[in-house]
Amino acid sequence: MTIVYLVGFMGSGKSTIAKRLSQLWNKPYADTDQEIEQTYDKTIPDIFSEEGEHVFRDYETNILKKVNKPIVATGGGIVERIDNIHLMKQNGVIIYLHTSFSEIADRLKHDMNRPLWEQSLKDRKALYKRRQQMYEGCADIIIHTDQKDINTVAQEIMDWLNK
Ligand code: S3P
Repeated sequence: MTIVYLVGFMGSGKSTIAKRLSQLWNKPYADTDQEIEQTYDKTIPDIFSEEGEHVFRDYETNILKKVNKPIVATGGGIVERIDNIHLMKQNGVIIYLHTSFSEIADRLKHDMNRPLWEQSLKDRKALYKRRQQMYEGCADIIIHTDQKDINTVAQEIMDWLNK
């Protein structure tokens, strides 16, 4: 089975698009963040505050190795470990949902559930810039999501998959 992995920064819409894609394509999807919370029975903010980011990344890699659904929404930091990238490359295709920093900032302005968004504007921007290069470096295709609705983005992905 070839897995379609959605990668991108926090707030780029990976989970929402995975769900829509799953309806359009009639195939199941998984969300690594959701699987982590269910498997380890803890919220992501709690894992970060009680166990630290390193442990969260271990959990994330374990889950990534186990998911076997045709569509997988990943967490924004999945690219932080090169082994995760190798695994995704080996098992399928990587779709980068690109969203501008200003749109992300707007979407996440009331968000309380993303520990790595809870930092200064300067640090958020630095993380965005660093990650952008990582997503671009591993992606098989880049889909721009700014000012597009969910259906348009999901349809663009479908068109690319059906090519
Ligand atoms: C993270 C992104 C989050 C979640 C965790 C860490 C990151 O997922 O995995 O808070 O490192 O960018 P989303 O991209 O779904 O917000």
